[in-house]
Amino acid sequence: MVKQKVLVTGGVGYIGARLSLYLAEAGYAVTALCHSKIPSDKNWNEKMDKVLIGDLRDENFLQEVANYEYDCLIHLVSLDHHQSNGNPAHVSSINITPVWSLLDIFSKKGLKKFIYFSTAQVYGILKEEVITESRSLSSQNPYGLTHQIGELICQYYNNTSSVNCHVVRLSNSYGAPIFEENNCWWLVVNDLCRMAYYEKQIVLQSDGSPLRDFIHGWDVCAGVKSIIETDKKHTVYNLSSGITISILEIAKKIKEVFAQRYGVDLELITAEKKNSSKQIIYQLDNSLIRSIGFETQWSLNDGINDLFDYLEQQ
Ligand SMILES: NC(=O)c1ccc[n+]([C@@H]2O[C@H](COP(=O)([O-])OP(=O)(O)OC[C@H]3O[C@@H](n4cnc5c(N)ncnc54)[C@H](O)[C@@H]3O)[C@@H](O)[C@H]2O)c1
Repeated sequence: MVKQKVLVTGGVGYIGARLSLYLAEAGYAVTALCHSKIPSDKNWNEKMDKVLIGDLRDENFLQEVANYEYDCLIHLVSLDHHQSNGNPAHVSSINITPVWSLLDIFSKKGLKKFIYFSTAQVYGILKEEVITESRSLSSQNPYGLTHQIGELICQYYNNTSSVNCHVVRLSNSYGAPIFEENNCWWLVVNDLCRMAYYEKQIVLQSDGSPLRDFIHGWDVCAGVKSIIETDKKHTVYNLSSGITISILEIAKKIKEVFAQRYGVDLELITAEKKNSSKQIIYQLDNSLIRSIGFETQWSLNDGINDLFDYLEQQ
């Protein structure tokens, strides 16, 4: 059987490196597109159909890549939350323009599916509510804003071309990186596990009350695979665990796993509580993606243990 050809932009980034590996192992012919350097991991490289180096801002490069005629393109390039606060021209040249260029160029080369990674941050300030994909969007920072614009570009191509564009509104992923250089240690669960492991304490910058929905990287991959394989035309999916917990709860969970593994009771330090108002609990609903076959497989307990396994090997 002919393998489906999948192009992953940001293919050696934190999510992209894992997703490229996962899809290659699932039988797809994966091209991982990287910005500057091909990773040295022989095992990973051998699983890829192609690894290409280039800049998504270079339209000539995109034209060359489009000649390989992909079935599916997964777009994973964006500056992170902090970097997106930079100069608007620079930020939009990376977060926005490539979405448009890719769709413009690849839609003319028979692309069937375009999966765009957005963020749950496009919802903005959350109330006590169950957040489905039809919830109104109200980004509160440049990172969310650029993803909101990326989503609009996808919507435009759904209306005007034969490409099926699907938007993934991802919550907060975590998990040990595939490559050491992956930009992932600022992610809350990763950061707290590393702090626990090296500093033998967990210090929170807040009182621990902020809420998050954490989803393990391998579950993110499973979610994307279900979107690649569905023939349903839903255009937007929340990709989340569906479980909302506070930073304090996650810190306590890490402390508990640490005690089980290493027999050490870590000190957990929080900042002073600023206000005593009632905590608002929201839920990022994932029933739409579950309706096309997605299920989470990774518990927080497994994910935290896996991070400690990784740190032990460093
Ligand atoms: N990691 C998360 O928890 C999370 C949560 C919500 C949404 N997202 C979104 O998912 C996507 C992937 O996130 P990630 O954590 O893997 O990010 P990442 O920073 O690890 O990966 C992005 C990749 O894009 C590459 N890149 C940057 N500029 C480029 C350019 N001009 N040309 C070619 N490549 C370029 C970088 O080298 C990097 O490998 C992003 O759009 C991000 O906003 C991530």
